[in-house]
Amino acid sequence: MTTPFADKSPEQLSDTEARRELRLLAQTITTHDTAYYLRDDPVISDRDYDAPRRRNRAIEQHFPHLKRKDSPEERVGATPPNSFAKVIHRRPMLSLGNAFDAGEVADFIDRTRRFLTLAPDERLDIFAEPKIDGLSCALRYENGKLILAATRGDGTHGEDITANILTLDTVPRTLTGSHPPQVLEVRGEVYMDHGDFHALNAQQSAQGGKVFANPRNAAAGSLRQKNPDITKSRPLKFAAFGWGEVSGNPRTILGATLTDCRQKLADWGLPLNPGECFATLDSLLSYYHKQMALRPRLPHDIDGIVYKVNRLDWQGRLGAVSRAPRWAIAHKFPAEQAVTRLEKIEIQVGRTGALTPVARLSPVAVGGVIVSNATLHNRDEIARKDIREGDFVTIQRAGDVIPQVVRALSERRLTRYLPLAKARPQRQKKQQHRIEKNTLSSRQRPQRRRERRSEPQQNCRPYRFPIYCPDCGTPVVRHADDAVTLCPNRLGCPAQAIERIKHFVSRHAFDIEGLGDKQIRFFFERGNLKTAADIFRLRTNCPNLKNFPGWGDTSAQNLWNAIEARRTVALDRFLFALGIPQIGRTTARLLARNYHRLDN
Ligand code: IVH
Repeated sequence: MTTPFADKSPEQLSDTEARRELRLLAQTITTHDTAYYLRDDPVISDRDYDAPRRRNRAIEQHFPHLKRKDSPEERVGATPPNSFAKVIHRRPMLSLGNAFDAGEVADFIDRTRRFLTLAPDERLDIFAEPKIDGLSCALRYENGKLILAATRGDGTHGEDITANILTLDTVPRTLTGSHPPQVLEVRGEVYMDHGDFHALNAQQSAQGGKVFANPRNAAAGSLRQKNPDITKSRPLKFAAFGWGEVSGNPRTILGATLTDCRQKLADWGLPLNPGECFATLDSLLSYYHKQMALRPRLPHDIDGIVYKVNRLDWQGRLGAVSRAPRWAIAHKFPAEQAVTRLEKIEIQVGRTGALTPVARLSPVAVGGVIVSNATLHNRDEIARKDIREGDFVTIQRAGDVIPQVVRALSERRLTRYLPLAKARPQRQKKQQHRIEKNTLSSRQRPQRRRERRSEPQQNCRPYRFPIYCPDCGTPVVRHADDAVTLCPNRLGCPAQAIERIKHFVSRHAFDIEGLGDKQIRFFFERGNLKTAADIFRLRTNCPNLKNFPGWGDTSAQNLWNAIEARRTVALDRFLFALGIPQIGRTTARLLARNYHRLDN
């Protein structure tokens, strides 16, 4: 994100500018927190997320009197929706500061040593362990029995997910070993292995259910089920990385160091992440590189290494700064990249008519997930990066973010050999052969010929964004100050109509199970489903559904039941389902809270 004064350092800002920038930063950070923590659907990478947070912190330090009441520094995550019971965390569930390179890790060590006023020769043990990419969870054991499980939520208020957590095999219901404390709150990460994620997606897609973009989203979706039987059918795992409330003195109960505490947690039957303790920066960094190399072969996603001061008394002295402890830091891995061929640029028409280009790729493995699509954002992005159909492209997947096309490898374009960009195809081909004959050895040439046969037709022309809607053929429009290209045929464009219905039945709207993309298209093409209102007439209009290919008695009956069950929904869901511009979930909730009934 860039703000109007982003090119100025905090000390160069006036009061008015600082106030305005803090407001914009708070908005941006809240939007991204909501996308990440509540929708499990972040749209930017960690690095891009960290930049506005750092900027916000720097401005607040210079202008403490301008610090906002809703300052992003004062909270972790986003306020949870009200579908699960609320849980108050007696000790806040903190987040972690990030380090993106070795220099920032060195700063962390220096800062820690200075804070603790350690003599130069005094040993500072740091415990390093992989940062699993899942969701944090707090498990409260009383007298050795699991009595409550909660999500992190905003760090102070989470959601009660006990019924769902009880379905996980890796979470002990009763602690084993000797003398567990009267109260022990274990904190850790819930996640899904790659293999289980692929199997779940295959099953979901066969049943017309939601296909998840990555294991983290699958874990989040599985944990937030209102029906624990669904969670039970999902292969979730848990790994402990710390603790919250502990009765008595943690140092007596758990030990003097993290290494001791981990041993205690393991003795009580809790699954742990592997980890190691180191005393020098170099050894920490070599552990980081070793884990990064192992990463592609691990069964689950990790997005960095967490370094933690090993001595608990030192952790206590270091304390925390608002949302993150001073005694720990996450050293993030760079976004995972891969090179593949961009086979085609496809234009998707959204429910608002916006044309979004999507890169269809030759499938490639990036961080344990097979990627075959990537976002291209808009026409300006394609032009700026000069991305062309047929190009080899570098793509990147950072955590949860939708894969992005980083750049086109223009040096691998065949046009490199073709100075005459406008040459006719026949002439191009001849010229190509001549150049290859001159530049490749006789051993390389047959290989190149084989490669050329399997390559799609090279297109050396810059990509031309369509001037007609690819779905309904209406000339597109673009406002001068906007990157978005729109199909203005709001009522007549089939793509927009289908997308509006998809939105209407989606999870946070009418949430109609069994009415997925495939089924919507089926009814739309048969003319039974033109607008969302037709959903409630489907049964009358399609009485013989069970006789159609792909349908049977049970699936048809299940669909009718699911539709019947949603004839009445909460007002906020209804308002959100309408897809009115600017009425997202939060605004819909506010409207519903104020007006209570639709008539009002
Ligand atoms: S320690 C007070 N250790 O990363 C510090 N966190 O970005 C608590 N995470 O909220 C965190 N693996 O959900 C810690 N080995 C690990 C972790 C880990 C994953 C998650 C956790 C935390 C988030 C911060």
